[in-house]
Amino acid sequence: MRVVSGIQPTGNLHLGNYLGAIRNWVRMQDTLEAHDRAQIAESGSAQKSETLFFLADLHALSQPHDPAALRAATLEMTAALVACGIDPDRSVLFNQAQVPLHAELQWLLNGTARMGWLNRMTQFKDKSGKNRESASVALFTYPVLQAADVLLYQATHVPVGEDQKQHLELARDIAQKFNNDFCCEDAPVFTLPEPIIPGEAARIMSLRDGSAKMSKSDPSEMSRINLVDDADTIMQKIKKAKTDPEPLPSDVAGLAGRPEAANLVGIYGALTGAEPAAVLADFGGKGFGAFKPALGEVMIETLGPIRDRFVTLKQDREALDAILARGASKARERGAPTLSAAYQALGLVRH
Ligand code: TYM
Repeated sequence: MRVVSGIQPTGNLHLGNYLGAIRNWVRMQDTLEAHDRAQIAESGSAQKSETLFFLADLHALSQPHDPAALRAATLEMTAALVACGIDPDRSVLFNQAQVPLHAELQWLLNGTARMGWLNRMTQFKDKSGKNRESASVALFTYPVLQAADVLLYQATHVPVGEDQKQHLELARDIAQKFNNDFCCEDAPVFTLPEPIIPGEAARIMSLRDGSAKMSKSDPSEMSRINLVDDADTIMQKIKKAKTDPEPLPSDVAGLAGRPEAANLVGIYGALTGAEPAAVLADFGGKGFGAFKPALGEVMIETLGPIRDRFVTLKQDREALDAILARGASKARERGAPTLSAAYQALGLVRH
């Protein structure tokens, strides 16, 4: 298995990123390593699995940005990922900008991706809004770079939140068309990646609006829990989270039409490992006055230790630079054979 995923280093890591994606990255890193070890113990050897995670700093250019802020956020996000449990000795952790193969492969794939496919991308429609004419070309071609990110490493599995599913379907379409158009049937250049989307936390919603996803770009700080928030801030944000006046229902069907209540119950479940039905078995009939402090507590319990590690790690810029340099060198090595194969399949002369 080759697990690959990325995150944009813009703004803070928030609870949606953590529950929707990063927690799964850490789990996959840990379980794959244990699986390899068990296989070696059993048969003396194993096909080594690998996990690669990156800061999608090239993707950040698709929106207006401040260069100094991007540089700082790239290092901070690296610290945040390590604080969450990504271990640079066991996973390849790097930033795209130090691995030019991503941008190179994107150009090769631009010949295969179709305008009609990109025109259907809902994230482009959402992010460009009414101002499509002045959106950057990078925002439009962004999903092709995302396809290059995973195809470069022959990713088999890509852990992401629900909002990235469409981009990964596009990556599969691009890989399939490229293999069909340019490769012999028994020697495809690209592996078709499988998205891994968590059932319970695929889409964490805003604390101010249960119909909008929790997002870095929401102007309201109260809409999201950041991984850097301290205990008091977390409790305050949870207590002020939008809800309705009814008590919690005793079964899941009773959450229909109550998006804010459903979101908070889902978050509680994702943090404690309980199904929403089990959460409602405990809290059904109780008001938010009782539920919110309990939710705040479990959140502080999970995020507190991550925050403490993050605060220490982010001080050591040199160590963070070294992590990214080492990861980038490994990533360049891993990606080189696929990029060469793509050049060759396309008939490009390159020695
Ligand atoms: P980004 O930076 O917006 O988000 C990083 C990851 O967090 C997930 N996520 C959420 N999950 C649940 N609920 C939410 N409210 C929520 N908000 C964010 C995202 O689904 C994502 O998994 N285009 C990507 C970055 C990227 C990438 C890639 C991902 C670039 N190349 C290749 C996978 C593979 C993005 O902007 O994610």
